[in-house]
Amino acid sequence: MSSNNKKRVFSGVQPTGSLHLGNYLGAIKNFVNLQNDFDCLYCIVDLHAITVWQNPEDLRANILDVASAYLACGIDPTKSTIFVQSAVPYHAELSWIFNCISRVGWLNRMTQFKEKAGKNKEKVSSGLYTYPNLMAADILLYLADLVPVGDDQKQHLELTRDIAQKFNNDYSKFGGKDFFPIPEPLIFEESSRVMSLRDGTKKMSKSETSSMTRIELRDENDLIIKKISKAKTDPFPIPESIGELDNRPEVKNLLNIFSSLSEEPILNILNNYSGKQFSDFKNDLSDLLINRLSPIRQELIKIDNDESFLREVLNDGAIKAKKKSEKNIKEIKKIIGLG
Ligand code: AMP
Ligand code: TRP
Repeated sequence: MSSNNKKRVFSGVQPTGSLHLGNYLGAIKNFVNLQNDFDCLYCIVDLHAITVWQNPEDLRANILDVASAYLACGIDPTKSTIFVQSAVPYHAELSWIFNCISRVGWLNRMTQFKEKAGKNKEKVSSGLYTYPNLMAADILLYLADLVPVGDDQKQHLELTRDIAQKFNNDYSKFGGKDFFPIPEPLIFEESSRVMSLRDGTKKMSKSETSSMTRIELRDENDLIIKKISKAKTDPFPIPESIGELDNRPEVKNLLNIFSSLSEEPILNILNNYSGKQFSDFKNDLSDLLINRLSPIRQELIKIDNDESFLREVLNDGAIKAKKKSEKNIKEIKKIIGLG
């Protein structure tokens, strides 16, 4: 809870490449909708990014790119706190404390680590393994109540809740009782998992080599049309009922995207297109995407030309974030016996 009695919201995006439709529909669009009712902090999580090698020049550019995307999508720096994680040293400090609270058995269950490490477990950084403890530190440093994320982050949120609970219990006799709120994930089901345009069983991702698998926020209209027209479907017409989508992941994904952009239930969309081939549907889907994304692209271009404004937003954001967390880190250290 923040000082003005509004519930507190925290979320973050990694500066690891061009932001895409999955980031927008699964996360950033919802960040925008929350900022009137809650005290929101939106972070660019650069310390998470370096759990995997990043070229320093690309990293510097990507940090500014996520900040621009936040602004271009409608996050208002006078309402929300937009800041870079490494500008507030308490995140790293609290993550060390959480390395000592969190259990190895808990981290061993994390499916994202297993997916990212793959067969290469011995060679990945130890930061990739303890990454969820840093994510817990991001959230709990601000005593956040709500965390809007895509479905892939649900397990990390559960770990955050476990860490909060264990801290509160372990230190209950030392001032830790009920210290951390137990944060809730905010997952908006219809857009929580946007899948690759080429394989409906894989999520749309920044790290996929082919950019044809994703719509990026900076894609020009022609490229959007091309990517949608080449998006994988199957030889069958559009079905009548939702049940018939079960074994058609690519078709289901395109319908989900249509539904979250138009804010119409899937059944209405099926009513309009059932029995038809994909060309009409794809044309309308491209129109919807262009309508939604081209104003964002225009804003991105404006912000690209005004780097000093962007730096000012991030400087102010870091000052505000420090103010919101300073008292908490001091108290946490005191509870533990560190000063
Ligand atoms: P990342 O790009 O991993 O830093 O993710 C930033 C935010 O976007 C997180 O809340 C993710 O859950 C969300 N996100 C990333 N990829 C997708 C996707 N394909 N579908 C829905 N949400 C996503
Ligand atoms: N782990 C998240 C992702 O990969 C990014 C993230 C880091 C985050 N810290 C966070 C999200 C705190 C929500 C809250 O998408």
